[in-house]
Amino acid sequence: MKTILITGANGQLGRALTVLFEKKNDVELYLTDVVSEGAIHALDITNEHDVHELVQRVTPYAIINCAALTNVDGCEKELDLAYRINAIGPRNLAIAAKETGAKLVHISTDYVFSGDGNEPYTEFDAPAPKSAYGKTKLEGERFVQQLAERYFIIRTAWLYGDGKNFVKTMLRLSETRDEVSVVCDQIGSPTSTRVLADIIDTLIWTENYGLYHGTCEGICSWADFTEEIFRLAGKSTKVNHITSKQYSEMNPAAADRPAYSVLDNYMLKQKLNYVCDDWKTAIAEYMNNIPE
Ligand SMILES: NC(=O)c1ccc[n+]([C@@H]2O[C@H](COP(=O)([O-])OP(=O)(O)OC[C@H]3O[C@@H](n4cnc5c(N)ncnc54)[C@H](OP(=O)(O)O)[C@@H]3O)[C@@H](O)[C@H]2O)c1
Repeated sequence: MKTILITGANGQLGRALTVLFEKKNDVELYLTDVVSEGAIHALDITNEHDVHELVQRVTPYAIINCAALTNVDGCEKELDLAYRINAIGPRNLAIAAKETGAKLVHISTDYVFSGDGNEPYTEFDAPAPKSAYGKTKLEGERFVQQLAERYFIIRTAWLYGDGKNFVKTMLRLSETRDEVSVVCDQIGSPTSTRVLADIIDTLIWTENYGLYHGTCEGICSWADFTEEIFRLAGKSTKVNHITSKQYSEMNPAAADRPAYSVLDNYMLKQKLNYVCDDWKTAIAEYMNNIPE
């Protein structure tokens, strides 16, 4: 029996991993989040002492860090909190993982890149984040690389699953609106938590440590993505394509986001011959069974 410790277990990815690993007879889950709820124990990853104490006690086979401050605009306003959760939290986990010999899976983001190019980014491209969220997540990656030994860093993008996300927001808006305005000049790869959980389940049992990009195949804009969501949901809501400039005029507090943050899953393909589902397949699967 192998124990897997999940942080941020009540978030979108944490829930998808819980569903996946609960089906396995040889895995015991130790679920944690900043607030305890049901089977989830309290663990604030920013608290070095608590992280150390818990990891020493549980001695997990692997720690999967799903905890983060994911509100991109919120990170601009709460930079200190963002550094504590997105950078110092992973630092604490990296130290504890090294002390106990646990593997560490840490999740990062396409927003570590500037998005100023027009070619997919591989793991070899230099990050240059524009937003506070991207900057703090990049520092989290760096701490993990510096302080952990047996780690997997997986950069993902445009994540949706069981929790608050873009898909649900658009579906909610379509209930009351005949049209929605959505940005058409930011290009990326929407990725379901089911797809990302499967990547983690593939890597975690191997010794193929290092940095990975893990997103669905294929690319689209947020506006294209919204049109596909409405098509699958049978909604007639019109999608007005707007530019990022128009969006930020309407929402002055919005963080600067990369225009082209497509990730090439180069290392997954090279090391594991692993190819992810296309984003259209993944969103169709999700829309067939949307979590409440
Ligand atoms: N969502 C995306 O579009 C996206 C895109 C690219 C990469 N990612 C990355 O993917 C990972 C998973 O994202 P997600 O969408 O599943 O995130 P999420 O749904 O926002 O879940 C994050 C969880 O972490 C918890 N948390 C916050 N501060 C904590 C702390 N100090 N200690 C312990 N737990 C804490 C949150 O609790 P509260 O809700 O109570 O704060 C929440 O339950 C993150 O690393 C994120 O940066 C996400």
